[in-house]
Amino acid sequence: MSQVNEPVLSVRDLRTVIHTATGDAEVVKGVSFDVARGETLALVGESGCGKSTTVLSVMDLHPRPTVEITGGQVVFEGVDLVKATEQQRRSVRGAGMAMVYQDPMTSLNPLMRVGDQIGEVVLAHGGSAEEARRRVGEVLEQVGIADPGRAARAYPHEFSGGMRQRVVIAMALAMRPRLLIADEPTTALDVTIQQQIIALVRQLQADNGMAVIWITHDLGVVARVADRIAIMYSGHIVEEGPSRRVFSRPEHPYTDGLIASIPRPTGSERPPLRLIPGSPPDPSHVFAGCPFVPRCPQAVDLCSEQLPPITERGSSSARCWVPPEKWTAPRSGGVSQQVAQ
Ligand SMILES: Nc1ncnc2c1ncn2[C@@H]1O[C@H](COP(=O)(O)OP(=O)(O)OP(=O)(O)O)[C@@H](O)[C@H]1O
Ligand SMILES: [Mg+2]
Repeated sequence: MSQVNEPVLSVRDLRTVIHTATGDAEVVKGVSFDVARGETLALVGESGCGKSTTVLSVMDLHPRPTVEITGGQVVFEGVDLVKATEQQRRSVRGAGMAMVYQDPMTSLNPLMRVGDQIGEVVLAHGGSAEEARRRVGEVLEQVGIADPGRAARAYPHEFSGGMRQRVVIAMALAMRPRLLIADEPTTALDVTIQQQIIALVRQLQADNGMAVIWITHDLGVVARVADRIAIMYSGHIVEEGPSRRVFSRPEHPYTDGLIASIPRPTGSERPPLRLIPGSPPDPSHVFAGCPFVPRCPQAVDLCSEQLPPITERGSSSARCWVPPEKWTAPRSGGVSQQVAQ
């Protein structure tokens, strides 16, 4: 799927705090991951676990002063953006890395022609009017829009949901970013359009070696797009590893629970659908031990006392005190062949 080499992005011990009326909440609690050229990393986890906050920290797109990066490094192509000047950050944002949101209307101005909005990105990064015009045509064509000239003159409301998402992807591609961050880009779309958008991003990636961070709670999507998976829970990455490995041999009970809750075709010999009981903790809650303990079927006493460190487990790593060979409760059994195709 990819030509993997040097990391384009290296995030180390990233911490992000949200200041609210009722106090401060650290919602990204020391997150580390790498994304290499041509690689797709899926960031997965239940609602509220800190996925968007993590990538908004990477993009430096948080509302200030409510949200603040309090520690760590975000190294993009060798430059630590946390320490960089605002000007350096601005030149990376949109050009080096670009973001696509779940709802295309978040990124589009309803009152502006689509071509002008895409062109604006090129102009903002110092391109000429002629370059902007040419690039608008190129990217609209690249995302599979049949009549780019006509599309450029249209307003966002004239497009269907799937087409609008293509326009947003075109806008993200305007400066040929080396990293595309897609935050739930297909959840608002029907399944057929979803497949088309996934195929489109994969094609663009194969063409130009762009790295992708794909945020989703849908493990079915993950199986189709990801080279690597990072599983988030309550502000921590609790497991990280190559996609096939994570699906076939989950190392964290949370990952195991997520896999067990993927709907399967009926009549197979697989175990019945299981949901993880309970819900994720409030991010402002501070735990002495592992935040998954209240929902974990494999927990031992130590888990409530001390946060487990990240440990290497073959080609994966996990933040868990209890390795799978010591699990006492039934597990999902892994789903390598059916799901990870
Ligand atoms: N600007 C903000 N002000 C207050 N709380 C916030 C803000 N941004 C995020 N949060 C809180 O931080 C926590 C993490 O949110 P985040 O949006 O990163 O989760 P997520 O994993 O992206 O969830 P989802 O799958 O629902 O998109 C949540 O509890 C959320 O309510
Ligand atoms: Mg989110």
